[in-house]
Amino acid sequence: MENVARLWIKEGDVIADVTYGRGAFWKRLPEPYAKHDLALDGVDCRDLPYAENTFDCVVIDPPYRPGHGSKGFGENGMAKAYQLGLLDTINDVLDLYRAAIVEARRVLVPGGRLMVKCQDLSYANRLHLVTLDVLRDITENGFELADQFLLVNTPNLSSGAWKRQERARRSHSVLWVALVRRTMSPDTGTGAPADCSHNYLIKMKTSTRGESPLSATAGYASLVVDARVRYWEDAEINGVSDEEGDLIPLKEGDSWKPVIDLAAGRIKDWPADKHADIHFKVCDDGDYWLADSEGKKLAKWRGHYVPDAFLCVGDRGYGDYIIMKVKCDGQIEGWNFPEIDAEEWEILQHNEKLTESLP
Ligand SMILES: C[S@@+](CC[C@H](N)C(=O)[O-])C[C@H]1O[C@@H](n2cnc3c(N)ncnc32)[C@H](O)[C@@H]1O
Repeated sequence: MENVARLWIKEGDVIADVTYGRGAFWKRLPEPYAKHDLALDGVDCRDLPYAENTFDCVVIDPPYRPGHGSKGFGENGMAKAYQLGLLDTINDVLDLYRAAIVEARRVLVPGGRLMVKCQDLSYANRLHLVTLDVLRDITENGFELADQFLLVNTPNLSSGAWKRQERARRSHSVLWVALVRRTMSPDTGTGAPADCSHNYLIKMKTSTRGESPLSATAGYASLVVDARVRYWEDAEINGVSDEEGDLIPLKEGDSWKPVIDLAAGRIKDWPADKHADIHFKVCDDGDYWLADSEGKKLAKWRGHYVPDAFLCVGDRGYGDYIIMKVKCDGQIEGWNFPEIDAEEWEILQHNEKLTESLP
């Protein structure tokens, strides 16, 4: 941790270690300002008792594997020390990581640093590249990757029982360092709204190898949304709570299906007699596309969680909510042209020709 601190912790940083455990990280460093752990003080790293923008740095090191089958699992063993009884499956572990990362994003200041320790593992006869899942969760939740540290436990890739061994032992853990991403307009890089010409040309980030169609310039004009909403009732249409979800325009079955003009921040075909204060819980049940000015879908959002930069306007939804105020002309209040991160969108096959032909 001293090596990590040398590069990524500054004097005077307000730091939270939210899975403090026995505090091994801080043996040779000053103690963090906030130290919490479910087993120590009952504070859950997924629900921290701090306001937004509190910390310069958050450190997360949750249990990296599910409890059952762990050596020493039991009342006084690892299970007790690491709260493993709460994590029955590998998905529980991944959910904990993700929720902790989302919560860290909330309490970190802009430009703040996240440090997450994680480890790949063989579990239930399968190899789980947990470090990659965690990395995806980091980049999908408002951070950009800044550094990677490998902590090698043992260089020995097989155990004494190698004849029974099925695959190499996981002999290292990874500590990801990530920075809270600052949202910038694509052209100015200043955070100011970009030029609002209709079919706005977005310069996609160029991949280092320059071979992906994602690196091309693309004419994205709109965001096409198909969000399966869990709770409609927190929205108000013309000041009235939409208890059954039958007041909101552009609803089809259980889905909300607006098409948003990206340059203007206006919802197409919005009825002139309605204004809305939208607060929909969606979570991971949605599909989102970037489309051209004809409405042809060109790229698909890689995740299923809500793309916050587009659909949480002036608020934070942590990938779970759509939050925005819509005026009578369909204009989304406070709209800022969102940054489009090429890595978060999968170019659809039929788009390759289009991207090649554009200047
Ligand atoms: C791998 S240990 C952390 C070790 C720690 N970095 C150290 O230096 O000792 C994982 C810790 O996460 C804690 N934990 C498990 N679930 C948690 C949760 N939801 N919120 C906060 N802490 C949690 C466990 O009690 C345990 O102490």
